[in-house]
Amino acid sequence: MDKVNRDKDNIITLAIESSCDETSAAVLRGGRKILSNIIATQIPVHRKFGGVVPEIASRKHIINIMPVIDEALSQGEVELKDIDQVAVTYGPGLVGALLVGVSAAKSLAFTLDVPLIGVNHLEGHIFANFLSWPELKPPFVALVVSGGHTSLVHVKDYNSFRLMGQTRDDAAGEAFDKVARVMGLPYPGGPQIDKLAQAGNPMAIDFPRALQEKGNYEFSFSGLKSAVLNYLNSMKLKGIEINKADVAASFQNAVIEVLLAKALDAVRETGCDTLVLAGGVAANSSLERRLREITEKNNIKFYFPDKILCTDNAAMIGCRGYYQSLAGGYSDLYLNAVPGLALTDL
Ligand code: KG4
Ligand code: ZN
Repeated sequence: MDKVNRDKDNIITLAIESSCDETSAAVLRGGRKILSNIIATQIPVHRKFGGVVPEIASRKHIINIMPVIDEALSQGEVELKDIDQVAVTYGPGLVGALLVGVSAAKSLAFTLDVPLIGVNHLEGHIFANFLSWPELKPPFVALVVSGGHTSLVHVKDYNSFRLMGQTRDDAAGEAFDKVARVMGLPYPGGPQIDKLAQAGNPMAIDFPRALQEKGNYEFSFSGLKSAVLNYLNSMKLKGIEINKADVAASFQNAVIEVLLAKALDAVRETGCDTLVLAGGVAANSSLERRLREITEKNNIKFYFPDKILCTDNAAMIGCRGYYQSLAGGYSDLYLNAVPGLALTDL
């Protein structure tokens, strides 16, 4: 492959993601063509502890990172000398986990003498949509719902964002995982609740919906989580057997209704005609269906990523890194992990 004078549509980006419990490396040609996207998940390792154990995650990333990068290069049919730039997640996430990816990316960028691009993980989730939808272009409103974050973002252009609001406490995915845990379901709880809810009645139990005032784009899910716990405890004390499917469906419905209402308001306020869903919870079948219905009814275009691109992966980091690099958003070799990195108001 001829690296000299490669035009921007043919730039080869090696991307690395290690912010939580997935070690992933991807190779992209240009901004949107995935040549490979290797994901080594640690879910089975953490499942026995009921959640991610940060120290174990870091150690597993160290073991997995080089084989995952090798596999991404091999499946992408490129060699190290073909790499034009290296993109890596530097936050938000678990500090020890992030450091593994950041260190690997810095070493590669230094030895290959190519630019390094530090990528915000949440921006990566939004950009997963560009990989699934070639025609998608900003402006749009993005609803980011992951294990660690719930945010509404006005994406004005590829490098211009405004954070409209985010969660004050638990993220949507975190609430799914915690409710699942008290119901005795394995980690991660989101997909389990999703499945169980399909057999339940979403109107069976009236769980609370927080911060419902119009124009408020903040979220709060910890009260809802406590309400589910209180319900389960009080039923147990009374010796009443619960219908788990009804609890799952009613909880899920409370989360979805809040997300739906705020996303719709945000689209209206910005004057956008497009809503984009992103993050691990985007894989929720009911959320996707109800957003599709409500956007159709309101003449809003709706996009969500392929399932494999909803949860953590390096391809989305490569896509974000590519567009960031077009605006000169490079990092130097002092790049460090930033566990609490906020979504940048650009
Ligand atoms: O984006 P992600 O892979 O990791 C973070 O960046 O946080 O999201 C993982 C989260 C977990 O909380 C998981 O339970 C949730 O996404 N999730 C789901 C579904 N699939 C994954 N939540 C609800 N329904 C699903 N089908
Ligand atoms: Zn994520």
